Amino acid sequence: MKDLLTAPFMVEMIRTTANMYAHGWDERNGGNISLLLDEGEVREYLDTGKVIRNIPTGFAAPELDGRYFLVTGTGKYFKNVQYAPEVNLGVVRLTDGGQTAALLWGYADGGQFTSEFPAHMMSHVARLAVDAQNRVVMHCHPANLLAMTYVHTLDEREFTRTLWQMCTECIVVFPDGVNVLPWMLCGTNEIGEATAEKMKTARLVVWSQHGIYGAGKDLDETFGLIETAEKAAEIYMKIAYLPRINTITDEQMHLLEQRFGVKGREGYLD
Ligand code: 13P
Ligand code: ZN
Repeated sequence: MKDLLTAPFMVEMIRTTANMYAHGWDERNGGNISLLLDEGEVREYLDTGKVIRNIPTGFAAPELDGRYFLVTGTGKYFKNVQYAPEVNLGVVRLTDGGQTAALLWGYADGGQFTSEFPAHMMSHVARLAVDAQNRVVMHCHPANLLAMTYVHTLDEREFTRTLWQMCTECIVVFPDGVNVLPWMLCGTNEIGEATAEKMKTARLVVWSQHGIYGAGKDLDETFGLIETAEKAAEIYMKIAYLPRINTITDEQMHLLEQRFGVKGREGYLD
């Protein structure tokens, strides 16, 4: 059996949490990540028959029965993951129609998966139905996206169009745009269901006055997705109170669509 701490998915998870902390997106225990793993790759590092303990999830997700995830722990600080991965992360297998998470490794201080586990697992179900390559759900609290939810309309078309206008490559990186939830109580099945519903049509879902969810095929790509949206929000927050005399026009957006072979969300461009 190989050492789990040398697994490429583990190394990437540790680097990603450290990088997200360095970007200021994950103060204290803010943020959480879940990464879908192949049973085959887990078996190289862990005896999948050895369950440390079973943890009830509080929801059902039959689509994910038998699937393995590497998940950040609740109350854990992203800045600390690199120093104590076995305390701050866990590898779980969903069983019992998703109602139980069998812990195979981690949460060594008796902890458990993130309080946002419902939003993560339900979002995996939603994204896997759209794209079988989707493996990552990532949540964090980037300052400018959050700030934007205080001063910008939460209308999804308007919110998306503003972000697209802030950097030329935004429409290329997130042509589906950004979906937006109003403020909701976090850590609940309700916000999980609402997030998953929004994940059916976009890979980015803003939680107003809280943060953002991103989904993608790997950690790097999902990080880059949030990074791009946050950069656009930063530009917006720099210019929002100034008279705007230039912008990226819809005509120019159509040129970008052609050049990069993408299609902006239906009805979002004139
Ligand atoms: P956890 O520490 O439970 O992951 O919660 C952090 C967070 O960002 C809640 O939305
Ligand atoms: Zn949060």
